[in-house]
Amino acid sequence: SGYKEPYRPQFHFSPAKNWINDPVGLLHHNGIYHLYYQYNPGGIEWGNMSWGHATSHDLTHWDEQPIALLARGFPENVTEMFFTGSAVADVNNTSGFGVDGKIPLVAVYTSSYQVTQTLPSGKEVKANQQSQSVAYSLDDGVTWTTYDEGNPVIHNPPAPYQQQYENFRDPFLVWHEQTNKWILVTALSELHKLVLWTSDNLKDWKVLSQFGPFNGVGGVWECPNLFPLDLDNDKSKTKWIMAVGLNPGGPPGTVGSGTQYFIGSFDGEKFTPDDESVYPGNKTSNWMDWGPDYYATTSFNGLPSTDHTVIGWMNNWQYGTKIPVYPWHGAMAAPRRLSLKTINQKPTLIQQPNEAWKSIQRQGEHSSSWNTFNQGNKDLGSVGKTLDVELEFSASGASEFGIIVQATSDWKQQTIIGYNFEEKKIFVDRTKSGDVSFDETFASVYHAPLIPNSDGTVRLRILVDWSSIEVFGGEGEATLTAQIFPSRNATFARLFSHGGDTKNVQLGVRKVSSTWN
Ligand code: FRU
Repeated sequence: SGYKEPYRPQFHFSPAKNWINDPVGLLHHNGIYHLYYQYNPGGIEWGNMSWGHATSHDLTHWDEQPIALLARGFPENVTEMFFTGSAVADVNNTSGFGVDGKIPLVAVYTSSYQVTQTLPSGKEVKANQQSQSVAYSLDDGVTWTTYDEGNPVIHNPPAPYQQQYENFRDPFLVWHEQTNKWILVTALSELHKLVLWTSDNLKDWKVLSQFGPFNGVGGVWECPNLFPLDLDNDKSKTKWIMAVGLNPGGPPGTVGSGTQYFIGSFDGEKFTPDDESVYPGNKTSNWMDWGPDYYATTSFNGLPSTDHTVIGWMNNWQYGTKIPVYPWHGAMAAPRRLSLKTINQKPTLIQQPNEAWKSIQRQGEHSSSWNTFNQGNKDLGSVGKTLDVELEFSASGASEFGIIVQATSDWKQQTIIGYNFEEKKIFVDRTKSGDVSFDETFASVYHAPLIPNSDGTVRLRILVDWSSIEVFGGEGEATLTAQIFPSRNATFARLFSHGGDTKNVQLGVRKVSSTWN
């Protein structure tokens, strides 16, 4: 195929064919980034959930690998699907899975049982039950063996929630250095609760605490993710972040799934959100991304917290199966490096795209500046469809300033990315972005709040790929991700200042090359 089909992401991961959703089991081990993902080996829609696998040396160029965990019984008679989970390198062989000094990689995942059955372990499970199971790899993540003697290792939800066995999933695994213990976070999805567990050996788990409900409680809670970050790079000020997927129930103005997070502390037992991270009456949430297409974000294990990296699924359960692409369905957002910085007296989550830019950026294709950018438009010509745009500007009299990308020469198709000075919000308008017909909620405008710098400057970094826009506002304190499906000849771009002039405009547009050559 050469990865040149219509809408094929050029510098984002997508599988050669078939359906993907959540990234799972992200692990950096022996210099290799492992990306596993929810995958249907048998089709372009959700089903037969297995763990697909891709590897990278630089988080940018990916090689698709053989399926890591194939739905049991596929294709005729699937009895167990492998839902979302996470993975670690068990360097001290706490699990005992290692043999001959080989470090075992260990994954904990949700078993989604399709039929009532008695398992090899002797445990009985019901149709539609979700339990937590373990698998391990002794060849650095290529092939995996399910721990059938013991699975599922967490058979049922803890008391008094046993009735929730159909909605108990998505274990995230993290090592807690201070107490020398494994920590696992699982979701009781319908209850908007997370359960934290601990273990010495990755097999025997006991309940530590619960978290939630807080803030966003639309739909179900899924895909929890817990990790430490040092505030302002100060090791004595470590905080913990808990991210949670909501489906449906994403940010204001979106329909479908989205991701919220809490900043707080974790003492090895209990995650306690900071007061300023919780909004009484569940009125609002801290949104990881303000766009419609960022879900199920999860962290790499095996990286230092100074290099904390996450990947999200760049799609939405509202229309994920209907997007007009073939023969695959779904892509991953650009990997992001996360940090915590005090901005306006508040610990603030900062996200920046973490790609090996040097290997894919063609330098300085367009770079211009204007002391005063007069009200109106400036055409940039046919700049292409894979761009890394940096835009800086400050208010003068304008109501809005921004850039149009992926436009056709008649401007009938266009995606608008701008800043509204009065509302202090970034916006992405995809109402005329191309094919919007496959879902009635798709043609919309999305907003992310962003306060200008103390000197009044607004900074936007915009990654444009054949079927996506990712905006990183300010230092990365606001992000907005949206898919678009423009036609192949939508290569034009233009700057605009509406309602007045804009000052101190600086533009850099670099072309990005395909990672699939
Ligand atoms: C979230 C999710 C998870 C589940 C997986 C199944 O997108 O629904 O909760 O484990 O997808 O594919």
